[in-house]
Amino acid sequence: MKQLHKQSSTNHRRDEEMPSSGQTPPYSPKSLKHPTRSLPRSLNYLLREQRLLFILVGILIGSTFFILQPSLSLLNPSSTDHPHPRSHFPVNHESVYSNGWSSMSDSYRSGGNTNGKGTGRVPANILRRRMRVVVTGGAGFVGSHLVDKLIARGDDVIVIDNFFTGRRENVMHHFGNPRFELIRHDVVEPILLEVDQIYHLACPASPVHYKYNPVKTIKTNVMGTLNMLGLAKRINAKFLLTSTSEVYGDPLEHPQKETYWGHVNPIGVRSCYDEGKRTAETLSMDYHRGAGVEVRIARIFNTYGPRMCLDDGRVVSNFVAQAIRKQPLTVYGDGKQTRSFQYVSDLVDGLVALMEGEHIGPFNLGNPGEFTMLELAQVVKETIDSSATIEFKPNTADDPHKRKPDISKAMELLNWEPKVSLREGLPRMVTDFRNRILNEDEGKGK
Ligand SMILES: NC(=O)c1ccc[n+]([C@@H]2O[C@H](COP(=O)([O-])OP(=O)(O)OC[C@H]3O[C@@H](n4cnc5c(N)ncnc54)[C@H](O)[C@@H]3O)[C@@H](O)[C@H]2O)c1
Repeated sequence: MKQLHKQSSTNHRRDEEMPSSGQTPPYSPKSLKHPTRSLPRSLNYLLREQRLLFILVGILIGSTFFILQPSLSLLNPSSTDHPHPRSHFPVNHESVYSNGWSSMSDSYRSGGNTNGKGTGRVPANILRRRMRVVVTGGAGFVGSHLVDKLIARGDDVIVIDNFFTGRRENVMHHFGNPRFELIRHDVVEPILLEVDQIYHLACPASPVHYKYNPVKTIKTNVMGTLNMLGLAKRINAKFLLTSTSEVYGDPLEHPQKETYWGHVNPIGVRSCYDEGKRTAETLSMDYHRGAGVEVRIARIFNTYGPRMCLDDGRVVSNFVAQAIRKQPLTVYGDGKQTRSFQYVSDLVDGLVALMEGEHIGPFNLGNPGEFTMLELAQVVKETIDSSATIEFKPNTADDPHKRKPDISKAMELLNWEPKVSLREGLPRMVTDFRNRILNEDEGKGK
């Protein structure tokens, strides 16, 4: 405008200068009839036929639309029905979960969002888009319960399992669900997937199974964890390792805090598992420090619940199965060694809180309620069969004497604590065990 004005005033001056060329311009009556002619031409154009008014009204309508548009999208109920189309490239979702409001990921800002909500700040509950999550060992006991929770909250879940101890039956209820995939794969071999989060559980967890092929157990812990960390690095996914209270060995500190470095026999029959998990923790931390992978480490204490392997040598499943089969409950040693028992839903809540939180860990996840083996046997008798008897057998090598988690770190930083007591949890696994033992017996023609 200024330039135009300048230009027009220059023209005007040129017009004024014209007389000096010696020719007198003819008298123009028009300029008298239209005083606005003396104004710059552009201004003149704007003022004519109320054009200025129309422009101002246009600007007003436009800005009203842009101010109201985000709030209109909130009022539109269809916004929750149609989750945002997911990007196939992982983005950092921590902010989406951790605070009430979130900025949109780059993929959405740059046009991945096709429903036009990609502007401004939008409440997280509307924005919470589906995650694509891998659960290695997802057909196992803990893994299958974790899968249930992730599917229930609306995520896409890919289970990777070699079915060494896992069972298709544990995840069969998700078959046919388009948000669920099951891949038979051994984590010792690399795999390429595009996901946002990796829960790495694949590893036999009970002594019977991890001692069955100790070299394979080490391979699973070392090469399997390396492969999954490598994948996390490549695709920029969050990675959670399920480590174990076994990293504390036969502890000299009681209860065990995460700061305790453990008392582990490196050459014993359990070391394939204990040392394997310790190495997996080391690898996770080195990938974090060296490659910037966002890792989380959970140290899980004894957990029980439906879908545990029958006869896997773990004390709760042993006692429950024996009581149902009317066999004596086997107690190793004098039965005074203590353990804490966590119900599986508490563990799954803790794993998800850890993955979604901002802290790497390690975190103890367990129930601090402490029971001797004899006390546990008593609870099992009360719950299943009061006439059950107890049979004592010599203790196994390297069996820790005491195990009880200090969970104050998880309580403070993850706002998590177990809710289900042993007396509440045990009956919940009995029905599942009864059905499976019945089916097993039917299969054998009993
Ligand atoms: N349940 C517990 O009390 C407990 C305690 C401490 C730690 N943990 C850890 O939690 C995780 C899950 O334990 P769980 O109790 O569900 O055991 P589980 O044996 O029921 O599950 C392990 C799953 O991993 C799979 N798996 C094993 N090796 C694999 C491989 N090489 N490739 C692919 N899949 C493989 C198995 O088939 C199984 O489905 C394990 O990492 C375990 O070390 C469990």
